[in-house]
Amino acid sequence: MNGHTQQQNRTKQTSQMRKPNVHETINPSILYYGTPVIILSTLNKDGSTNLSPLSSSWALGDCLVLGIGTQGRAYENLCHHPECVINLPDESMWGKVETLGRTTGISPVPEIKKRMGYTFCQDKFKAAGLTPQSSLQVAPDKIAECPLQIEASVQHIRTPEHTPFMAIVEVKAVKVHAHTHLISEVNKIDPEQWQPLIYNFRHYFGLGERQGENFRAGR
Ligand SMILES: Cc1cc2nc3c(=O)[nH]c(=O)nc-3n(C[C@H](O)[C@H](O)[C@H](O)COP(=O)(O)O)c2cc1C
Repeated sequence: MNGHTQQQNRTKQTSQMRKPNVHETINPSILYYGTPVIILSTLNKDGSTNLSPLSSSWALGDCLVLGIGTQGRAYENLCHHPECVINLPDESMWGKVETLGRTTGISPVPEIKKRMGYTFCQDKFKAAGLTPQSSLQVAPDKIAECPLQIEASVQHIRTPEHTPFMAIVEVKAVKVHAHTHLISEVNKIDPEQWQPLIYNFRHYFGLGERQGENFRAGR
């Protein structure tokens, strides 16, 4: 395709994008539609802590659900020791997340992960320049640099029949820690201060300007 045709196509695409409510059915290879990044601490068999970046999680009350690949160290560790810490990096930490994201705590690296470019890493704290901090109620260490840290215990691990390579892990929050600058009043996080790191179709974003608030935001 020559440069002129490419330019015409781009112009056509841009004008179509601007039309409201015009859609096209597509078959995307990824569906990471913009969720916060977490770094999951799990316990290795030797008592050290493994770190795994994840973007598949949600929270409702003190119940959190994580989507974890069964080929990785996090899954193996959680099956062996049912405790973890959900560390939430802020938007400034994307480079550290990306450093971790190229590694696995599994050795030898499973063939499927090797083909995707993952390499083995024994000490992920050191590799990413992060500081381990003892947890209060669970065995894996927290990450000092993460402004929010949720210690949690595993309640249930399920591998869906239709995607056996992914596990759905239900955990219960048992202790929550917040950097003091995020705390606006007792037991409240100030949403103006908290800047989550968003994974948006494999690109890292922060939050833009606040657009509004839910009717229960102040409670
Ligand atoms: C930003 C980001 C988000 C990710 N989200 C997930 C996820 O939700 N679930 C998952 O299993 N892997 C996810 N990954 C890939 C894992 O981090 C990767 O498989 C890593 O090797 C896991 O480490 P481990 O094998 O030591 O547990 C993500 C990676 C990055 C960088």
